[in-house]
Amino acid sequence: MTDITGKAAVITGGGTGIGMGLAKELARRGVPVAIGDIMIDNARRTAAEIVAAGGRAIAVPCDVCERAAIHALREEAEAAFGPIQLVFANAGATNFDRLAEIRDEDADWIIQVNLMGVLNTARAFLPGMIAAGGGHLVATSSTAGLTPGSVPVHSVYSAAKMGIIGLMMNLSLELRQHRIGVTTYCPGGVASALGDQNSLYRPQRFGGPKSEGLQVPEESFQDAAPRFYSPESVAPIVLEAVRRDRPFAFDHAEQRETFRETYSRVVETCYDDIAAWEAEHGTPELVENAG
Ligand SMILES: NC(=O)c1ccc[n+]([C@@H]2O[C@H](COP(=O)([O-])OP(=O)(O)OC[C@H]3O[C@@H](n4cnc5c(N)ncnc54)[C@H](O)[C@@H]3O)[C@@H](O)[C@H]2O)c1
Repeated sequence: MTDITGKAAVITGGGTGIGMGLAKELARRGVPVAIGDIMIDNARRTAAEIVAAGGRAIAVPCDVCERAAIHALREEAEAAFGPIQLVFANAGATNFDRLAEIRDEDADWIIQVNLMGVLNTARAFLPGMIAAGGGHLVATSSTAGLTPGSVPVHSVYSAAKMGIIGLMMNLSLELRQHRIGVTTYCPGGVASALGDQNSLYRPQRFGGPKSEGLQVPEESFQDAAPRFYSPESVAPIVLEAVRRDRPFAFDHAEQRETFRETYSRVVETCYDDIAAWEAEHGTPELVENAG
């Protein structure tokens, strides 16, 4: 169980969309929130709306690809609200380029912002969380990371988002002793600014904002167009997963079948293959003391 009462939060990418919904829900429950975002005007607007509604919030310019910027976010957040025990590493950006065609700077950007952004954020805030005696770390992955075979032409983003899942699942083992809960949120379709503003999120070192908007190939969602929920309605679902200390938070119950199919297919083919191989040929040759 993670009790958010009396704790302060940081949210990366909290200027719009899912992060904004989380920031407002946390503030509504009395949690002060520091919003770090590369789009500082959006972050300031969200913080101002929270303050106008009686909550506590600050906005800090922050590119999660830059470690120094995250440390500056931590310093400002701690100066405003004291120890930060609730960390939402949520900032992200997407793209739909074929791997054979993607530009170097876009491949680097998508890995950096989605995977390294979470890793950088966790590294910057964990020492303080440990010193404060515990808390909760939430990272926003995606169903593209959980079931990466479901949306074509999404390989780099899927790799980054699945990387987050590996990072978080392993991290939970070392954070348990520090009473820090770990939840990976895998949105399956939430209305946000990704469609309209995604191209503006690219930092200068990856070429800066792109002139062309986000292009989604028809084949990517030809099987099933996602249903989009509002950020306000998914935020309480994520916070309930935090309260229950769940390893994952999902928001589309019907996507359970995609998950089951993805992994049961692996269990029933690839593990059957190796079991059958061992039955016919014996186990692979064992090397003593190799580990
Ligand atoms: N909306 C969905 O259906 C969906 C599905 C799966 C995963 N996600 C993930 O949810 C997270 C939030 O996205 P969203 O859908 O709310 O979209 P959004 O565009 O509304 O929010 C993304 C936020 O991240 C910020 N951001 C982008 N690059 C940044 C950087 N380098 N440093 C700091 N901030 C940066 C943006 O300014 C924005 O505020 C992302 O990680 C996204 O990949 C969203």
